[in-house]
Amino acid sequence: MEKKQSIADFLQKHAQAEPISFHMPGHKGAAIYREHGYGVFLDRFMDWDITEIPGADNLFQTESIIAETMHRYQTMYHAKKSYLLINGSSTGLIAAIMTAVPRGGKLIMARNCHKSVLNGVMLAGGQPIYAQPELIEDYGISGQVTPMEIARCLREHPDSNAVLLTSPNYYGICSDIGAIAEIVHGAGKLLIVDQAHGAHLKFFDLYCGDNPKAAENLGADIVINSVHKTLAAFTQSAVANLCTERIDPYVFEDKLQMIESTSPSYLLMASLDINADLLEKKGETLIRQWKENLQYFYEKAAELKDLRLMQHPLLDDTKINLDMSAYGISGLELEAQLIERGIFTELVTGDIVMCMSGIGNRRCDYERLLSALSEIAKQRTFREEKEGESALCKVWDRGKVEQRAIPLERERVQLLEAAGRVCASSVIPYPPGIPLVCPGEVMDETVVQYVAQLRAAGEKVIGVDELGRVVVGKE
Ligand SMILES: Cc1ncc(COP(=O)(O)O)c(C=O)c1O
Repeated sequence: MEKKQSIADFLQKHAQAEPISFHMPGHKGAAIYREHGYGVFLDRFMDWDITEIPGADNLFQTESIIAETMHRYQTMYHAKKSYLLINGSSTGLIAAIMTAVPRGGKLIMARNCHKSVLNGVMLAGGQPIYAQPELIEDYGISGQVTPMEIARCLREHPDSNAVLLTSPNYYGICSDIGAIAEIVHGAGKLLIVDQAHGAHLKFFDLYCGDNPKAAENLGADIVINSVHKTLAAFTQSAVANLCTERIDPYVFEDKLQMIESTSPSYLLMASLDINADLLEKKGETLIRQWKENLQYFYEKAAELKDLRLMQHPLLDDTKINLDMSAYGISGLELEAQLIERGIFTELVTGDIVMCMSGIGNRRCDYERLLSALSEIAKQRTFREEKEGESALCKVWDRGKVEQRAIPLERERVQLLEAAGRVCASSVIPYPPGIPLVCPGEVMDETVVQYVAQLRAAGEKVIGVDELGRVVVGKE
């Protein structure tokens, strides 16, 4: 019998090929630890994997070494209190929602929030009120949630408890958190910011000064950062910052311990500690280098005449959004061509391929990406866009989606027969992990066709089972 490839086989083979990573996590491999004096961590990896022995502190009652690392983050982010998270930003977001929204309460949340936010509302027993992000038509992706939209939601739902926004979003587009914080606080509510993609913003602001500012500086009450996505800690390690007196830390801690693992990984916590040490000691150099590498990349890439690089006044440009549709290359094809050249990217949406840079990317990674793009461009001649070609992107543009109560009785039906049925379990392309259809929303033909196209192209869509069925309300 043919031996199936195991997880370990896959990882071994992948690492051996020395691929270039423009995806999570931000450390981009062992080099950053080795080069900056943390090689012992890599060498003693298994030996550092311990439990709460005497002297090792306890994540849920911190008083020594873990408290010290929490304090380092608190100082770096100028927070009132910081918490290490070992189950990703997902748990920080869920705990924040459970803190801010009582059972039966309402959360105003951006419609493009990550699925963990919706899970948080459900676990809290609350009700989501959707704020619609703007559509950036030129690129077919969602953009900022405007202060006006938040003001509208607050006007229409004065009994809501809190507002939760993602900033930056998956493509790097930020919202005007400063203006939104004023509006939210003016209405006496709490503001939670999902800054999963922007743990680095605080340091860019400090050392470079020209990327969008971190939500910690702009008046948000709770800010959740996936340190692992862009900085130098392991996957799943994140930090929650409580930034104002409006949040009672004891309530937040209580919720956090309900949902986090009771066996917190010392490897993850150690990687958060090393990341803090690295930023304290070498942050200025590393962040400036990162910025210089990005400037170099953007300047050189601009020489490829028909390569479109997303530009936007609210863009965090560590997210490099590429579009080669002018060469007749779709997002999925570009991703495949880059993989052929050993370069792995984070996300494809329509014609856009998002390359997620991180603190561990070196100049040679950007050079490899540039040379791959130039090679791909040379192989193709410029061509006019054909009618209907960007149909995949139009799903965000389909106007107001009909909303009903979340069905209690459910059944599975074939995706292609689901138009007109009420969704009972979210349908989520992953990445980006943003629900395309939320429970209670009526599925329409556009969304059904869009999901079918994604699946046909080999994309992962959570909520559609192996038989091609979705969960809807029973009729
Ligand atoms: C916008 C957004 N928020 C939250 C999360 C959850 O973060 P984590 O993977 O750290 O749990 C993700 C994950 O990709 C995300 O994209």
